[in-house]
Amino acid sequence: MTDVRDDFPILRTSVDGEPPVYLDNAATTQKPARVLDAIVDHYATATANIGRSHHALARRATERYERARAAVQAALGAAHPEEIVFTGGTTDGINLLADTFGRERVGAGDEVVVCGMEHNSNLLPWRRLCERAGARLTVVPVDERGRTDRADFAAALGPRTRLAAVAHVSNVLGTVNPVREMIRDAHRAGVPVVVDGAQAVPHAPVDVRDLDADFYCFSAHKVYGPTGVGVLYGRRDLLAGLPPYRVGGGTVKGVARDEPVAYVPAPARLEAGTPDVAGAVGLAAALGYVADLGWDAVREHDAELVHRAVTALRKVPGARVVGAPEETPSGIVSFVIEGVHPYDVGGHLDRHGVAVRCGVHCASTFLDDLGLLGTVRLSFAVYNTVEEVDRAVDLLHSVRPGVWTAEHPTTRFL
Ligand SMILES: Cc1ncc(COP(=O)(O)O)c(C=O)c1O
Repeated sequence: MTDVRDDFPILRTSVDGEPPVYLDNAATTQKPARVLDAIVDHYATATANIGRSHHALARRATERYERARAAVQAALGAAHPEEIVFTGGTTDGINLLADTFGRERVGAGDEVVVCGMEHNSNLLPWRRLCERAGARLTVVPVDERGRTDRADFAAALGPRTRLAAVAHVSNVLGTVNPVREMIRDAHRAGVPVVVDGAQAVPHAPVDVRDLDADFYCFSAHKVYGPTGVGVLYGRRDLLAGLPPYRVGGGTVKGVARDEPVAYVPAPARLEAGTPDVAGAVGLAAALGYVADLGWDAVREHDAELVHRAVTALRKVPGARVVGAPEETPSGIVSFVIEGVHPYDVGGHLDRHGVAVRCGVHCASTFLDDLGLLGTVRLSFAVYNTVEEVDRAVDLLHSVRPGVWTAEHPTTRFL
């Protein structure tokens, strides 16, 4: 990986006099100047509402928005631009699907299948759907290393299974699910699959046609793009059959007082209200940025940092790496330190200028299955260095039980 640190303005700032050591990239990534410039340029030169007003600036804004859609289409290998719906992020995309596709498909006595490692954003929308419909949520168990066994997944698909929703990559352990094969198994059983790609898109090229995914969701902010915008990919025939989600401006052909409302086709039907046009433009710039770095370089870099962290953690007294991050490196290494609350570990690192996430990572049911209170998670991006990994792990040699261990030994935070 060439040195990309200069591309990221935030890395030239300081936290308590030191450059930030930011190892919390699975939560959100920093943004390269190219993305920031694209957003500023959009507001500076093309601010207008899209698809509505009849003037040159509105046409320019619309053209940039649709160009962003085409860029996402190309990045995901989708067949048609209409298969790309801009959303508010992964959570928003999955809620959209639960409230439209799910609501139409899942009834009393039916089943929805999810994996044991799901983030709440790919669990709660399905759980609520099942509660409302009188359906059953089937959770495919994970093994002791936090992996989904494909045979267990296939076995969970029964005659009443109406859909499956699976993480591509676990945000807790970085485990990569064999989604291509899982989708094949599901399709053999006549079950459509929603993939939560939030942690996959930043670390590997995703080709929705190669995966044969029915739906695939991700967030821009985890792949060097802005917050508040994301993507729902849906196969054209499936999107075409979806009812509107939120209704309002931009979704209709016309409205008359005493006639049924006629909605426009997807994707506009699913993008009610003024969308985050600059966000979409920023997302397209972000995807272009990573593609230009080259996926081989990104993956090698991830593997190098994961290997470095796992190797160094082995030498820290009491430290245990959770899962098998080196098997399928995706930039995430989770660990625990015997006798020290994850929050004391995170606090210690924070006091020394190292940002990590600690806790249950919005996946408490997964942590329950692993029998853990929480973990400390190092998560890497293209600008992280082996020196930063060494610095973080070196600091663990001086970590001691603190107030969390002493006073809140069993308290969990999200
Ligand atoms: C696997 C996974 N799914 C879904 C989400 C939710 O993403 P967002 O908060 O951008 O909607 C996250 C965020 O951490 C995630 O890691």
